[in-house]
Amino acid sequence: MNVGILGTGHYVPEKVLTNKELEQMVDTTDEWIRTRTGIEERRIASEEIDSSDMAYFAAKTALENAQVSANDIDLILVATVTPDTPFPSVACKIQEKLQCTNAAAMDVSAACAGFMYGLITGQQFIQTGTYQHVLVVGVEKLSKITDWSDRNTCVLFGDGAGAVVLGEVSDGKGILSFELGADGSGGKHLYQDENDHIIMNGREVFKFAVRQMPESSVHVIDKLGYNKGDVDYLIPHQANIRIMNAARERLGISEDKMATTIKKYGNNSSASIPMALSESVNTGKIKDDDLVVLVGFGGGLTWGAVAIRWGK
Ligand code: ACO
Repeated sequence: MNVGILGTGHYVPEKVLTNKELEQMVDTTDEWIRTRTGIEERRIASEEIDSSDMAYFAAKTALENAQVSANDIDLILVATVTPDTPFPSVACKIQEKLQCTNAAAMDVSAACAGFMYGLITGQQFIQTGTYQHVLVVGVEKLSKITDWSDRNTCVLFGDGAGAVVLGEVSDGKGILSFELGADGSGGKHLYQDENDHIIMNGREVFKFAVRQMPESSVHVIDKLGYNKGDVDYLIPHQANIRIMNAARERLGISEDKMATTIKKYGNNSSASIPMALSESVNTGKIKDDDLVVLVGFGGGLTWGAVAIRWGK
């Protein structure tokens, strides 16, 4: 059984927060943020919009694009570290909103690698023949756990959601290989504190990510016997353009073959990869039969990579 992506969708809030505006909030500059991270602006959800709302919008589009009806979804997996509440899960909330009455539902927590964990968990259920269609969403309202007085972190994050519908695809297509990993000993470098704020040792996370993202990207294509330059499109977690370029360079591909939504959306944690994927599909950057690599890392520490032969 080959399991692939039948449809994608994403949602971003309307409100734009620019680097210039951040200059008024903390001791930073547009130049510092752009050159160190690649970020120019990010989206911030309003008070009334919570993670489940953004997840719902993205998921609805993914279902439409996949041409799969809500009743045919067997399982909903929502990757998030910013659920509306610890329970009920965001997955249960969108199960009701979407009227996926036949679906089991749960949230997955693996920080920025969460979507990769969700994607592979969903794939396993379909591959074993247990389920036919799985909805996987990555959503974050990071603005609600951001310390807006901490320049080390507040310039990095943004809100948004991305979603995919997984199902059976034809021979040779779909998810070809994957890698998931974790190193709990690095948890101290990136976590949510007792005040519900993101605390990050940027240098340590940078060192880990700049090693792990290229390594995992190469592992998933090595497993398939592919070489440098064989990847048609790379969708890395959008944390820092320098980390993303490290992965791209290890794969030996040019800049135009990498999704870079970081410029306008910043780091959306679990939502970054499915948002970038959905935009890349919409803009025609990913074509039928392309070898696509998705790769992410995050708090935990966690990481994950997937190689997909695009198409149904
Ligand atoms: N504006 C101006 N100066 C700043 C800012 C800012 N917004 N933030 C930090 N600085 C200062 C620091 O205080 C430091 O000053 P010091 O030398 O006097 O102490 C100086 O800039 C340089 O800091 P570095 O940490 O060396 O800067 P670096 O080039 O490493 O960039 C960054 C920092 C962008 C955070 C980088 O380390 C990084 O991207 N790390 C990875 C972060 C990441 O990916 N996090 C997301 C993980 S995903 C998740 O699960 C949420």
